[in-house]
Order: sequence, then structure tokens, then C-alpha cells
Amino acid sequence: MTGSDAASARIDTSRPHPARVYDWWLGGKDNYPVDEELARKILAVDDTVLRGARANRRFMQRATRVVAEAGIRQFLDIGTGIPTEPNLHQVAQGVAPESRVVYADNDPIVLRHAEALLHGSAKGSTDYIHADVRDPDTILRLAARSLDFGQPVALSLVALTHYLGDAADGDDVHGLLKRYVELLAPGSCLVLSQVTPDLNPGSIQKAAEHFRRSGTPFFPRSLAEFSRFFDGLELLGPGVIPVSGWRPEPEDVAVQAEGIVPVYAGVARKP
Ligand SMILES: C[S@@+](CC[C@H](N)C(=O)[O-])C[C@H]1O[C@@H](n2cnc3c(N)ncnc32)[C@H](O)[C@@H]1O
Repeated sequence: MTGSDAASARIDTSRPHPARVYDWWLGGKDNYPVDEELARKILAVDDTVLRGARANRRFMQRATRVVAEAGIRQFLDIGTGIPTEPNLHQVAQGVAPESRVVYADNDPIVLRHAEALLHGSAKGSTDYIHADVRDPDTILRLAARSLDFGQPVALSLVALTHYLGDAADGDDVHGLLKRYVELLAPGSCLVLSQVTPDLNPGSIQKAAEHFRRSGTPFFPRSLAEFSRFFDGLELLGPGVIPVSGWRPEPEDVAVQAEGIVPVYAGVARKP
């Protein structure tokens, strides 16, 4: 377990954190009263968040299985979140036990749980980096201790990019993703999902306002803005689509029947 400031990471319970708010929506126990308060405020203005969290988590599992079944054996998952089984390494190593997985997140509570994430199979490996996605040099340098970037890697940022702004906001999320993708070998895959205002704009705007007021900038993106993340890559079918419609299994069809989920998802291959 490594990272830029892993040793000094402290859990701050004075303000809500995205990983813990998401954990509350998923029915987890790794959250504090401040997180529950924000999670409930957002739920009150956007009643899609509970099924949205569930649907998003299931997308991560399906997408991981798809790229693993396509032959990818190396995974870099940034914005990992608090463990909720099955986790990405369990899905990947369930398909191919030799799969190597590196997780990265900037939240100290995820670091605290990293031990639980590190139980890989005997042949494969699972590592954890405590770092910010905006520090690609650190993440890629530390990931390279486990992963061979000369071979295909599945890079996943699932429900992460809506916490990152555009160039005008100082983050340049599109430029940042380009930097990561440039370093990937041909045959690598990019797995993404993110919140959109396209389907229920009023509710998402209010939810985003709650996030911002709590100290977490939040950037829902349109279909066109989200699709730009995949520029230069070959989208796997069915392309960019609301998350539960991405290669759905029976449980996803059931979630779709419950109502909209304002999250886009897509998986693309680097030619
Ligand atoms: C909504 S959770 C998604 C968890 C998991 N990827 C999933 O989809 O189930 C977002 C995660 O991104 C992490 N995160 C947010 N901003 C980040 C940043 N700048 N660098 C690294 N991780 C970040 C949060 O700590 C949280 O664990």
C-alpha cells in the first residue's frame, strides 16, 4: 500500500466525503453523520440516487467482466471507493486468477479499507495507491510496480469524473484523461461512468448545489461532454448509454423498470 501522503492520511468527520456519501446510498456502514446528512439532503431532491448508486456499482462489475473475458489481465481502477462485494479485483480474478489489479483513491477511509481490498488470488496481485487522480505521475509510477504498461491495461474511473472540473475550473478533466490514455498500450480499455443532467436536470442541479455547498465541487456532464472522454478510442457496443442499459443482466433490467438513472457509461478500446 503506497501513496503520496499515505502515512499522514486522517479521516475528517467534520465534512462529508464522496466515498462515504456513496457508501450510505449503497446501504453501507462506513459513513458518519455528516455524510448521512448530505446523502439524505440529496436523496430529498433527487430520488434516483439509491438505484443510481446500485446501478453504477453493477456497471463496474459487468464492464470489468467484459474486458477480462476479452483477455485483459491488468486493471488500474482510480476512484475505487469503499469496498462493496464483489469488488473489481474479485470480478477480474474470478475470470482470470492471474489478473493484476491496482486501486487508487484519495480518501483516507478507502486507504483504511485497503487491507480488505488486497486479498488477491495466489497467482494474481492487488495493490493500493493513496493518491489523487490529478497526480498521474505518482499514480502511474507506483502502478508500474505491479502493471506492465507495455501490455493492455483496463483503466477505470467509475463515477469519478463528475468530481473533476473542466479547464476553466482548474482541473481540465479531458486533458487529464488524455494523459492517462496516451500512456496505455494498444488494446487497453477505458471504462467510465458519470452523472449527467440530461435526464432530470432540475434534480441534478439541486443535488450538485448540495455537493458544492458541502465542499465537494460537482460537475454533471451532457452526453456530448461525456462522450468526448472517448475521443480517439473505439467504443464497445452499445456505446455511451445510461448505465443500466450497458449490456444489462436481468437485475439491471429490473433497475431500469424502476425509473431513470441519470448516469452515463461507456467502455472503449485503444486501437
Ligand atoms: C462515487 S465513488 C465511486 C466508487 C467506485 N468507483 C464505484 O463506482 O463503485 C467516487 C470515488 O472517487 C474518489 N475520488 C473523488 N475525487 C477523487 C480524486 N480527486 N482522486 C482520487 N479519487 C477521488 C472518492 O474518494 C470515491 O471513493
